[in-house]
Amino acid sequence: MTTVADAKPFHWEYRPEAVARELFRVEGGQPLEGTVTISGAKNAALKLFAAATLTGERCRLTNVPEIEDVRVMADTLRDLGIVVDHPADNVYEIASGDVEWLFVPLEAAAKMRASFILLGPLLARFGRVIISNPGGDRIGRRPVDLHVEAMRALGAEIDYRNGYYFARSPGRLRGGTVRFPFVSVMGTENAMLAATLAEGKTVIQPAAQEPEVDDLIEFLQSMGASVQRTKPDTIEILGQKRLRGADHQVVPDRIETGTFIVAAAVTGGKITLNNAPCDHLGAFLDTVGRVGVDVSCHGDTIEVDGSGLRDGGYKACDIETAPYPGLATDLQPPTAVLLSQANGTSRVHEAVFEDRLEWLTEIRRMGASVEVLDPNHATIDGPSQLVGTEVEIGDLRAGASLILAALAAKGTTTIHGAHHVHRGYENIERKFRDLGASISRTAEGTADTSS
Ligand code: EPZ
Repeated sequence: MTTVADAKPFHWEYRPEAVARELFRVEGGQPLEGTVTISGAKNAALKLFAAATLTGERCRLTNVPEIEDVRVMADTLRDLGIVVDHPADNVYEIASGDVEWLFVPLEAAAKMRASFILLGPLLARFGRVIISNPGGDRIGRRPVDLHVEAMRALGAEIDYRNGYYFARSPGRLRGGTVRFPFVSVMGTENAMLAATLAEGKTVIQPAAQEPEVDDLIEFLQSMGASVQRTKPDTIEILGQKRLRGADHQVVPDRIETGTFIVAAAVTGGKITLNNAPCDHLGAFLDTVGRVGVDVSCHGDTIEVDGSGLRDGGYKACDIETAPYPGLATDLQPPTAVLLSQANGTSRVHEAVFEDRLEWLTEIRRMGASVEVLDPNHATIDGPSQLVGTEVEIGDLRAGASLILAALAAKGTTTIHGAHHVHRGYENIERKFRDLGASISRTAEGTADTSS
């Protein structure tokens, strides 16, 4: 067993890569019509890539969304010396025979927080890893203390220096009880990944119940892991000496699905969503139903009729985000755009992240009547006629929601920071154009040729 001392001398200079700054131009007011096919879920795919590092055998993932975050994860694994092939669109093959360099640099974390999900599997399989602290982002401080405590509960030793966690496990990790003070999605996933190769049994409580966590459990089981959700909020794992390669199809993206449902609702259009995970959207469908949007599910097909918008029939509705099965915090921004078109005052309680309401100042610039009361509470009065203007994207979900507001607005909206949206939505402009939207993407500083 190699010790941390055998690791290559630690020297790394952070060289942030320039991001291509792009913008969207959207001509609003067009009811969307037609059919859209939902892609695989970003928040499942990234963890499945990490799980594939638990074995030296080849794993094949299909229905992987072609998004920037997946490309970053693939490159991060390649930088570790892992073979990542991309034989076709939406298909990746990963073979982590042997890993040369157990180091996840700041570059990866700076581009994508989810790179921290590599802590558990690399520590469990190789007994050591140096990984960058991902830090916070526009939606909150986002500490990783629960992840670190979970690894310590499984017998790991972890030091923190110069922005990096130095993690090692003298011998195999040891199964144990991982008790979280509150639900953490990636905290649950990191602990679960580590526990699959630990000695003995691990119990995780309260374990996150997000469908993406169950998708990861399914993949791990097909790799030969003994992992079960024994109660809604409890996951039990019996560690194995090794896991095998497996194939897996990524679960469809419930957040992308919710985004397109709101797109039909706020443009007064009619759309059909294929490959849509209806049964993963309980709280959201309940919310849009209370607002008065006509949504019907038929297996993995969803029909949305937004004609309620024209009849002025949308009703205000109070919302509160929560871990699954509550209303997803990632669907708070799209839902807020819908509430800006509803009659009356809606109260928004963002209970998961402490900075996820700031983006509302951008739709206020488009004429929405919103008031941010404190970091977790806001009110939205409606209906407001949104009007095209210049806005700036701060994060992925706010970005997609500004596109929704622009599609509902009168006139042209210029949305700066398009790169944020490409982190998590596959071909979003093409999908909207196929539904009749007028949307283009150009490099910042390029003259507006659309008018
Ligand atoms: C996952 O983030 C998702 N990201 C997020 O989606 C999603 O918003 C979030 O879960 C909640 O559903 C991925 O799966 C890649 P948490 P995660 O740990 O796991 C606090 C998107 O747009 N916390 O469940 O990082 C934390 O600050 C993204 O796709 C600690 O305090 O979220 C937050 O307030 C955005 N210490 C709360 O817990 C910790 O160690 C829940 O966060 C960990 C979390």
